[in-house]
Amino acid sequence: MNGNLIVIHADELATSRGFKARPGKAMNDLHIVRDGAICIENGIITAVGKTADVMATVDPQAFTVIDASGKAVLPGFVDSHTHFIFGGYRAEEFAWRLQGMRYMDIMARGGGIASTVKATRQADLVSLVRTGRQRLDAMLAFGVTTVEGKSGYGLDRDTELRQLEAMAILEREHPVDIVATFLGAHAVPEEYRDRSDAYLEFIMADVLPLVAERRLAEFCDIFCEDNVFSVDQSRRLLNHAKTMGIKLTLHADEIVPLGGTELAVELGAVSADHLLHASDEGIRGMADAGVVAALLPLTAFGLKEPYARGRTMIDQGCAVALATDLNPGSCFSNSIPLLMALATLYMGFSPEEALTAITLNGAAAIDRAGRVGSLEQGKQGDVIILEYPSYRFIPYHMGVNTVEKVIKRGRLVFDQTQGGLIDAV
Ligand code: NIG
Ligand code: FE
Repeated sequence: MNGNLIVIHADELATSRGFKARPGKAMNDLHIVRDGAICIENGIITAVGKTADVMATVDPQAFTVIDASGKAVLPGFVDSHTHFIFGGYRAEEFAWRLQGMRYMDIMARGGGIASTVKATRQADLVSLVRTGRQRLDAMLAFGVTTVEGKSGYGLDRDTELRQLEAMAILEREHPVDIVATFLGAHAVPEEYRDRSDAYLEFIMADVLPLVAERRLAEFCDIFCEDNVFSVDQSRRLLNHAKTMGIKLTLHADEIVPLGGTELAVELGAVSADHLLHASDEGIRGMADAGVVAALLPLTAFGLKEPYARGRTMIDQGCAVALATDLNPGSCFSNSIPLLMALATLYMGFSPEEALTAITLNGAAAIDRAGRVGSLEQGKQGDVIILEYPSYRFIPYHMGVNTVEKVIKRGRLVFDQTQGGLIDAV
């Protein structure tokens, strides 16, 4: 297969449009074509429109042709916040939380992130790549064509680099595109207990330079949180990363209102993530500065915390993205349909806003809106075909995968009707 592919006769071809984030009210505007078609040449979209119009301009002999009668055609999903490279699992912590233990209390007792750090330090590169590949396969089956992944379960030089290296290998071999983020400041490791400043110094002096030199991460992130890293510490690390040409993102105001959102605005971060306790001022600031607000409702759901104020953020003019936060602790889920159900049912998103948030604005949250996130001429041919005739079925069919086919750069890589993943090489 050569990346030349046409999809025709879609009941509904639906996409947000643009090459940058869509803020506020504009999130609701979808471009919808009935009897729609899309033409992809050498992996890049060359035409989108009515089937008759698109077909009039091409020689179908040169293309793989897929008939999407009765189905919806959408841009591939962009999951802009995950921690998908890790060793071990934490099913016992889920049970403890059901009995009333709090996430941060488990962490304070040496469980939580520290438990995954222990398991990840023991995992070699081969096993990180193998489990990472399985998770990417699962994401692809849900229609995810671009994913962000973080380090942060090493908290030492070699394991942090190994996590990033695993992503670099998977980026080369797996159809899902990966954007890597360095999250060495995810927690303070046991060796540095009560010495978080010294740990940050270590990261800045001994790890970040190697990450930058080997081009292993495009973004730098930090868990800016009470009892983890303060706003001042976050400012220090992120400013340092910025001088190395690394883009910025933050875990901000997740558990308590600390001011991470305002810091994201001050530093011109590409996105600020979680935001369960973002202040009114922080929200206005994100709207003014064009910081993408990346909301992760599966985490709030799993931790039984109140959802972020997504409706207010959209009404205030923010560009809001939705992502899964897939990780072994606070949120062991990569379910896009459950995420979309929560956003619409509990956070006040319209199905249209939710679609924009998981496509174009997801892409913007990782600085990829110029390349993916919508079906438009010049963008990468990353397309999904649903089993149903409309995007509205995604939140409506609560928690159930409606993705039938996934096309990555003009190649069919997943087809439910052919048993799932297809080796497209
Ligand atoms: O995004 N908040 C910090 N980091 C992750 C959770 C990581 C974990 O529990 O392993 C999050 O929720
Ligand atoms: Fe996270």
